Amino acid sequence: MTLANENAYVLCEDLFKIYKIADLEVVALRGLDLEVRRGEVVAIVGASGSGKSTLLNILAGYDAPSAGRVTVGGKDLLQMGGKDVEDYRRNDVGFIWQQTSRNMFPYLTSIENVALPMMLTNKPGKERQERAKELLEIVGLGHRLDHTPEKLSGGEQQRVAIAVALANDPPLLLADEPTGELDDATAAEILDLFGSVNRELGTTILIVTHDPDIAYKVGRVVMIRDGKMSTEVRRKVTFQRITGDRDKEEPLEEFTLVDASGRVQIPRDLLDSLKIKDKARVTIENGTVTLRPEE
Ligand SMILES: Nc1ncnc2c1ncn2[C@@H]1O[C@H](COP(=O)(O)OP(=O)(O)OP(=O)(O)O)[C@@H](O)[C@H]1O
Ligand SMILES: [Mg+2]
Repeated sequence: MTLANENAYVLCEDLFKIYKIADLEVVALRGLDLEVRRGEVVAIVGASGSGKSTLLNILAGYDAPSAGRVTVGGKDLLQMGGKDVEDYRRNDVGFIWQQTSRNMFPYLTSIENVALPMMLTNKPGKERQERAKELLEIVGLGHRLDHTPEKLSGGEQQRVAIAVALANDPPLLLADEPTGELDDATAAEILDLFGSVNRELGTTILIVTHDPDIAYKVGRVVMIRDGKMSTEVRRKVTFQRITGDRDKEEPLEEFTLVDASGRVQIPRDLLDSLKIKDKARVTIENGTVTLRPEE
């Protein structure tokens, strides 16, 4: 690990994921770089098919990358064997899916769903019950302990999902469009809940979202384009928190990301508007880089 990265909790360097279906190869991640500090909240945005879920699945230990480097809390996910991956999934990460139904077992009550991951880590029965109840109280569902998912609203199911994900006290929460199925008001409440989890437990949170206002609700948004990080938006004032309310007062700063090889991505529509096809003239003057069409 280089010096600049020593504070990174999540570190991806030149990450590739290639899916092979019969003779066809799909490059889902192509040289992705990402650094996330411990306790940071980062939103990941990008068009459908850009590689957001692929990245989250790799960080969750559900899927192995094809090449590159990825470490979480100093653990090298490429080097981990079967047993280590299982331990990692149980103890080091919590995952929340978009589909509310995917986050809970349908025949189990809220408290049983939250207690389940603790059975897998051999927590004693009484402790499990107590912790599950406490977690459900934290997510505001202390009054729904014995409800099965069908008797809960979508927002309530996602609250249980967050409690399930937190059961074994993981330092990292990964959420793949956790508010995608919710109305705006409920989505805002769930974002608030992520905010209080981050604040109170210090959990590092990566959240994939299509919320167009997300930049006003978190401190840092990274955009994936074609399997690679392309731009990053930050609040001008250093700001960690995630909230359901947008704070449009605070100015945003947008950066284009430069990878280790000096590559930057320029959106195709911008290049088209400048009539730049496959070549451009680059000049450097007064500390400014200019990109022009060929003629
Ligand atoms: N298991 C798989 N086998 C083959 N190709 C896959 C697989 N999973 C994803 N892909 C492909 O990889 C690319 C990235 O997919 P991914 O699911 O990561 O996108 P996404 O950014 O999450 O999109 P969405 O916003 O629609 O959820 C897509 O082209 C997709 O078709
Ligand atoms: Mg996805």
